[in-house]
Order: sequence, then structure tokens, then C-alpha cells
Amino acid sequence: MERALTAPVIRTNRLTLRAHRISDAERWHAIVNEPRTRQFLQWPVRDEHASRVHLQHRTRHTKLWQADDFLALAVELDGDLIGDVSMHLRSTDGPTRSAEIGWILDSRYSGNGYATEAAAAMLALAFEVLEAQWVTAIIVKGNERSVALANRLGFLPVAAAPAHNSFLMPGLAWDERGREIQRRFGIQLGEAEAEFPNETRLRPLAAKL
Ligand SMILES: CC(C)(COP(=O)(O)OP(=O)(O)OC[C@H]1O[C@@H](n2cnc3c(N)ncnc32)[C@H](O)[C@@H]1OP(=O)(O)O)[C@@H](O)C(=O)NCCC(=O)NCCS
Repeated sequence: MERALTAPVIRTNRLTLRAHRISDAERWHAIVNEPRTRQFLQWPVRDEHASRVHLQHRTRHTKLWQADDFLALAVELDGDLIGDVSMHLRSTDGPTRSAEIGWILDSRYSGNGYATEAAAAMLALAFEVLEAQWVTAIIVKGNERSVALANRLGFLPVAAAPAHNSFLMPGLAWDERGREIQRRFGIQLGEAEAEFPNETRLRPLAAKL
């Protein structure tokens, strides 16, 4: 790939999504060490130093270029870190281009639709900029709030393994509902752009808002 997608700044009605900064280490530690959050992410207990190192890694996950590249964006509300949305690029080939997304919200901000708004922005990035054909979300059994979020955005349940359920947002579903979702959450993708070499556009970009 000649040009990659690098961490954009995305604005929504209430949030800003941007690359992570190490200056948020204290908040990151608090967010991801909340017991239920950690349980559903299946992350280990991390002390402050380990959380800082973890966030440091996330500050470097700013580029999607090859399969399995990982992009993590901070979710900011009024200048404060309140969560994270992420995207794993699973395939870059045009006909199967796909990504897996994830979401994390500071439990103190739960119940206000912030995670849904941030996840919708990540979906818009996947479909409108990366031109993914589909997007998946893998959710640990029992993580009902995460399942509810996936349902709110229109993901379809597609598989149930012993420990996880898999959800899918097909590109065709996004083509039908994406514009309305972007309008509802006021998603502005800004300067985000990506180019994959030797690829023809298979899905015409939906008209930008
Ligand atoms: C999964 C997770 C992000 C969901 O958080 P959440 O607070 O339930 O989700 P939202 O921020 O979208 O808020 C949804 C709630 O706000 C309400 N809401 C209020 N205003 C809203 C709006 N403008 N848009 C959407 N929902 C809105 C919804 O009705 C919903 O209400 P409910 O709590 O009564 O069901 C959070 O529980 C979390 O971080 N869990 C731990 C990490 C994790 O599991 N990550 C996923 C791994 S697969």
C-alpha cells in the first residue's frame, strides 16, 4: 500500500475522536481497571506503570496499512478522555476488505449514548474512508451492554462460539442506513482519507454530509 489511513480527528455532536496521548495515562488507568470493564475486555490487572506502557503502545497504533494493523482512537468529551474506539484491519483486498471494531467507555459516563456515538463514528470511518465491505464486532458472552450497543447500530448476530458472539455490519446495510446514522450523530470525518494501491473502488462512497 502506498498510502495508509492515519489517525484522523473525527468530530461528532458531542465527542472528538483523536490519537491517544500519554498525558492521559492516569485516566486510562482508571478507565480500563474498572472491574467490569476489565472483565469484558479480558484484560489483566495493570498497575499504574503497566497502564502507562499499555497506553504508550496505543499512542503508536495510529495507522492502518496492512492486514492486522490496529488503529486506536481516544474518545474525548469536553477535552477529557472518556473512552476508546478501535479498529483492526482484517483484510485490505477490495472484495473482502474488512475490519473489526471495539469500544470502551469510562463506566462513569455510561448510559448517555457516548459509546454508541463513538462507535458510529468508527463505523463511518470503516465504510466511508477505508471502504470496508463489512465490519465485525466480537463480544464476550454476557456482555449485554455491548450487545445492546451493537444492536442499536444495526449489527446482525452471525455466530455464537462458546465464549463469544460475533456480530456483523454488512456494507449494504451501511449503504442503507449510514447516511442517517452520520446525520444523527453529527459525524464529521474531517481530513480522514485512505488509499489502497492497485484497487478499484468496489463500493461507491456514499455522499459526504
Ligand atoms: C460496552 C459499553 C461501551 C457500553 O456502554 P453504554 O454506556 O451502555 O453505551 P452508550 O454510551 O452508547 O449508552 C447507551 C445508553 O444510553 C442511552 N442513550 C441516551 N442518549 C443516547 C443517545 N443520544 N444515543 C444512543 N443512546 C443514548 C441508551 O438508551 C442506552 O440506555 P440504557 O443504558 O438504558 O440501555 C460499556 O459498557 C463498556 O465500556 N464496557 C466495558 C468494555 C467493553 O465491554 N467493551 C466492548 C468489548 S466487545
